[in-house]
Amino acid sequence: AVVVRRQMRKSGRWAKAMAIVKELEDKCGTPITRLRSVADSMTVEMHAGLASEGGSKLKMIISFVDNLPTGDEQGLFYALDLGGTNFRVLRVHLGGKGKGVVKQEFEEVSIPPHLMTGTSDALFDYIAEALAKFVATEDEGSHPFPGRERELGFTFSFPVRQTSIASGTLIKWTKGFSIEDAVGEDVVAELTKALKRVGLDMRVNALVNDTIGTLAGGRYYNPDVIAAVILGTGTNAAYVERATAIPKWQGPLPKSGEMVINMEWGNFRSSHLPLTEYDQALDAESLNPGEQILEKIISGMYLGEILRRVLLRMAEEAAFFGDTVPAKLKIPFILRTPDMSAMHHDTSPELKVVGKKLQDILEISNTSLKVRKVIIKLCDIVATRGARLSAAGILGILKKLERDNISSNGSQKSVIALDGGLFEHYTKFSSCMESTLKELLGGEVADKIVIEHSNDGSGIGAALLAASHSPYLDASEP
Ligand code: GLC
Repeated sequence: AVVVRRQMRKSGRWAKAMAIVKELEDKCGTPITRLRSVADSMTVEMHAGLASEGGSKLKMIISFVDNLPTGDEQGLFYALDLGGTNFRVLRVHLGGKGKGVVKQEFEEVSIPPHLMTGTSDALFDYIAEALAKFVATEDEGSHPFPGRERELGFTFSFPVRQTSIASGTLIKWTKGFSIEDAVGEDVVAELTKALKRVGLDMRVNALVNDTIGTLAGGRYYNPDVIAAVILGTGTNAAYVERATAIPKWQGPLPKSGEMVINMEWGNFRSSHLPLTEYDQALDAESLNPGEQILEKIISGMYLGEILRRVLLRMAEEAAFFGDTVPAKLKIPFILRTPDMSAMHHDTSPELKVVGKKLQDILEISNTSLKVRKVIIKLCDIVATRGARLSAAGILGILKKLERDNISSNGSQKSVIALDGGLFEHYTKFSSCMESTLKELLGGEVADKIVIEHSNDGSGIGAALLAASHSPYLDASEP
């Protein structure tokens, strides 16, 4: 009788666990009709954000980039790419017309976590020092103008109220950064002061978001690139807008008639978004509650954390991992999206990768195959929702540009440059995103829309924009 009772209790727990899975699946549902509503409301918000400052959750930031690279850019330029847990310094030698990138070197430096929540000076000093070290490795004689300051494109991947191509104030931090004294400051001025402190003679020619850099880098190689999307630690998009379609723009109309817009789509939210209790709790406990809601259900910083929260509830309410709740499972952000991706892609018959991740990260041993299969299912639910919503966001942009239907633009291709670790490394995520976009567009239109991986385009893009915004363009001698 005791054995039977325990069996029953066991099956009761399993039923409870499955009910939690089912509930998650229902709440994360993204049927096509819902995705269309998300895309439509994205388009509506884009209009509102372009109409007036503060008119929408979408900031639709004017980048001051009204000319994208042509291929004529020439010279030696540096770039600094800051926006996640790492930053990169680059040195790019641009050959000019038809010659492309002659040489490109880079170094990646990780940011010590305490600097992400410390002071502005501490962060910028650290960056400036790394940059100075990198500049010191420059080949003798490769800087063509001895005595002239070196020139830099600064990719700073946070929301910035741009005041010119080479200045802008930080609106707020995202993605786990929180450095209070930098908010409201001109980030170029902060960087420039730090460069002075370390004795590096360098000027900042361009300040760009990573989406803008990726768009510029993408356009350099392919003239059909019209938008860029980042799916990485955070998520965001930029696209080329007609200058006359930006009512809030008070400046003179650019000659090109175009202006690149940084949407900051991570901050999008809508009643159409499928949100769960896990998302609500994650948001409430985050560094930026109420903000970046789309980002919190799509991007790499958060997917693993959502999964952890679901598993924790299953452990607590359905004894999913046995009688005790694994202590490690209670630690926020312990499950990272790359680990989730590794589990999701596990094809070994015993799901060995899942078993090993549970063991290594959460110290949960001896999981059954049945349990491991459920975990894969959870990965799939959470990643699929994010991937399909990304596709809906892209559809929103295409609608705004009227490139979502067959009659527009003839056979003209529309290329979207994609970058970011999530897109690059989480294969199931990217393929789901791409197939969903096809599904949304329908056969004939889908053939005109191309997703292109722009590998580290944002750094090169910043160097290209530094070149086209050089004060020495007309005078080749100092
Ligand atoms: C966050 C930032 C945004 C950036 C994106 C991708 O959403 O606010 O500026 O483009 O992450 O890195």
